[in-house]
Amino acid sequence: MVLASITCTAPVNIAVIKYWGKRDENIILPLNSSLSGTLHQDDLKTTTTIVASEDYTEDELYLNGKKEDINAVRYQNVLKMIRSRATKLMDKKHCVHIASINNFPTAAGLASSASGYCCLVFSLAQMYGVEGDISAIARLGSGSACRSMYGGFVKWEMGVKEDGSDSIAIQVQPESHWPDMNIIVLVVNDKKKETSSTDGMQKSAATSVMMKERCAVTVPNRMRDIEEAINKKDFQTFGDITMKDSDDFHEVCATTTPPIYYLNDTSRYIMNLIHRYNKLSGSVKCAYTFDAGPNACIYLPAENTTEVLSLFMKHFPGDNIQTYYRGPKENIPSIENFKP
Ligand code: ADP
Ligand code: DP6
Ligand code: CO
Repeated sequence: MVLASITCTAPVNIAVIKYWGKRDENIILPLNSSLSGTLHQDDLKTTTTIVASEDYTEDELYLNGKKEDINAVRYQNVLKMIRSRATKLMDKKHCVHIASINNFPTAAGLASSASGYCCLVFSLAQMYGVEGDISAIARLGSGSACRSMYGGFVKWEMGVKEDGSDSIAIQVQPESHWPDMNIIVLVVNDKKKETSSTDGMQKSAATSVMMKERCAVTVPNRMRDIEEAINKKDFQTFGDITMKDSDDFHEVCATTTPPIYYLNDTSRYIMNLIHRYNKLSGSVKCAYTFDAGPNACIYLPAENTTEVLSLFMKHFPGDNIQTYYRGPKENIPSIENFKP
């Protein structure tokens, strides 16, 4: 007998101060705090459906139609934590079947692990009646996922406690604070990356000479400055810091042994184009950031969108770039259908 079913969606977030490196691999505690903007759910999103039934003999998860190993440690950590905090379905003997779909490239450096685990945890939490902060449960699936629990600008406080209870996401500003901020995503390559974020950051933390300074000095200073820039809606400072942190993050990857290269020639072309365009304009009109992949995310004031888009159209004729905008509405994981 089916006991409950639910379908939810969750948005992607794109970091402007990058999370890279863990101090605890099992419960995913980061070496530095990070900060991101949440995208519009109509653009990049995960949709997850979960059914709990007494007829199921084991938990199952299908990602984009392919069966995943539900015994993988991250899925297990998430499921155990949800069930331990459940206020519903507690005394019922049942398993869950989960189907999740991303409407954008998976594992290509567009934060699929963020929307994916956020959606999984949000859906399970609704179904099991989990109360209180659930960003720390999403963090157990993928670090960046905790930040997708809120809209607008969100920081992930690294925390100091060993149990991770203070390593949670906090909304810095709701989207209504800076509604005319847009994000354009340029999909340069939608293939699965060679080095996953998890592997890449582990290697960087172990070998890059840049990590120590980055975590101890650079990131704490940038977190303070970019929060202030967001509060003041100061795009010049925001854009400067965003591009610097992206550049440094890829420098950390390049100084990893063996080196990791997520950017390609097209990514570098986009970076140069944006620097030249900003210089010619005499101000920061738009700012790029690249995650662990070659695809560009461009933050920009809405008023510059048409001009910047036409610049990309001119340099990348044809259909090899896709564009998405961040809209003016608050983005949070949301329920599409729930039969408790
Ligand atoms: P990305 O840059 O897309 O976040 P990662 O290497 O960080 O790439 O993570 C990709 C992994 O995240 C996938 O291989 C899968 O294990 C997990 N993932 C992605 N989407 C989902 C989803 N919708 N539900 C559950 N897990 C997901
Ligand atoms: C470059 O959150 O994907 O996108 O915690 O191992 O799942 P795991 O890694 P993940 O790393 C994201 C790295 C990044 C920067 C960021 O989103 O902050
Ligand atoms: Co990821």
